[in-house]
Amino acid sequence: MGFLADALSRVKPSATIMMTQKARDLKAQGRDVISLSVGEPDFDTPDHIKRAAVEAIGRGETKYPPVSGIVPLREAIARKFKRENGLDYKPAQTIVGTGGKQVIYNALLATLNPGDEVVIPRPYWVSYPEMVGLCGGTPVFADTTMENDFKLQPEDLERAITPRTKWLILNSPSNPSGAAYAHAEMKKLTDVLMRHPHVWVLTDDMYEHLCYGDFSFVTPAQVEPGLYERTLTMNGVSKAYAMTGWRIGYAAGPEPLIKAMDFVQGQQTSGAATISQWAAVAALDGPQEHLARFRAAFQTRRDLVVSMLNQTNGLRCPMPEGAFYVYPSCAELIGRRTPDGKVIETDEDFVTALLESEGVAAVHGSAFGLGPNLRISYATSNQVLEEACTRIQRFCGALR
Ligand SMILES: Cc1ncc(COP(=O)(O)O)c(C=O)c1O
Repeated sequence: MGFLADALSRVKPSATIMMTQKARDLKAQGRDVISLSVGEPDFDTPDHIKRAAVEAIGRGETKYPPVSGIVPLREAIARKFKRENGLDYKPAQTIVGTGGKQVIYNALLATLNPGDEVVIPRPYWVSYPEMVGLCGGTPVFADTTMENDFKLQPEDLERAITPRTKWLILNSPSNPSGAAYAHAEMKKLTDVLMRHPHVWVLTDDMYEHLCYGDFSFVTPAQVEPGLYERTLTMNGVSKAYAMTGWRIGYAAGPEPLIKAMDFVQGQQTSGAATISQWAAVAALDGPQEHLARFRAAFQTRRDLVVSMLNQTNGLRCPMPEGAFYVYPSCAELIGRRTPDGKVIETDEDFVTALLESEGVAAVHGSAFGLGPNLRISYATSNQVLEEACTRIQRFCGALR
């Protein structure tokens, strides 16, 4: 349609949203469908957070917020970074947005000129390259491998950097692979960045609180204080506090960058919903006990899913450190046939046939830039996961 912007042709539809919709459609037709394609915790928002929102409404906190966020939330964010990450940020160095997604988009919109390059490790969260493209920048991909647990290697980062590089986007724990960088691994990456003073790092720490076993989360500016002046540390309440629908994300960084993001936001959303911001204050400042409960549940689910997938004919699944995704390879099954004669040529064929024959919805790895793999979200009950993995085993076992 000639009326629409050319920029739209540079954007791919979200494969995760498409898969979730396909599963919903099949369910509406009466099929028994298990969706492992969603990217949100199945837990409810903790009660004390909900109460804070109701109280905010009662107090009449229902007017426009300051563009960068209400002062109590910016103060709570500064306290969070100090308490949990050992990072010193003044409230004026923080900004609140409508979800982590909008914060990232804002940062890119405020900084990218045509031709600017953004290094994105592959596999990536589907939105990074699309957001970079919409802001006029050029995504430059740095590949990872399953052998390296989908973690960016310092030499591959070094190779991806050019004089046009503006940002590296780092996401640990990762959506879609669940991979997270330990201190020593992160240090090797920050060492590379120290050699390239023109490159900034946008670190997406959305899954910080979802790390398992004895793994310790780290963020770049904490590992290398020398990067503080060119790091935007982004985080949010969506995943850790089961608040995906409240739409609150935040970031902290050098004040001139935050001011530029505030400037963009002022002409865009005028700031995030006030009531949600008060709920986020309660999330960051309030009791954190639910985090251990969420973590324990996710860790049990991760262990269950990885074990069952590794007992599946033709699948190989590394054990990730965090988030609520696993990213098994289905490379051995490419070229096989389903009982009704369909050839599995790609990972997209694999997930489509899996949905059609067993009613299990996953997302193909090529949508995240690296395949043949599939992303499975384990943010659902053990019982459902066991049934889903049994169906996956049956599906793979029937391929010839
Ligand atoms: C890696 C990553 N970053 C950011 C986001 C966006 O978070 P929000 O829902 O707060 O916009 C997501 C959500 O799926 C994510 O997986």
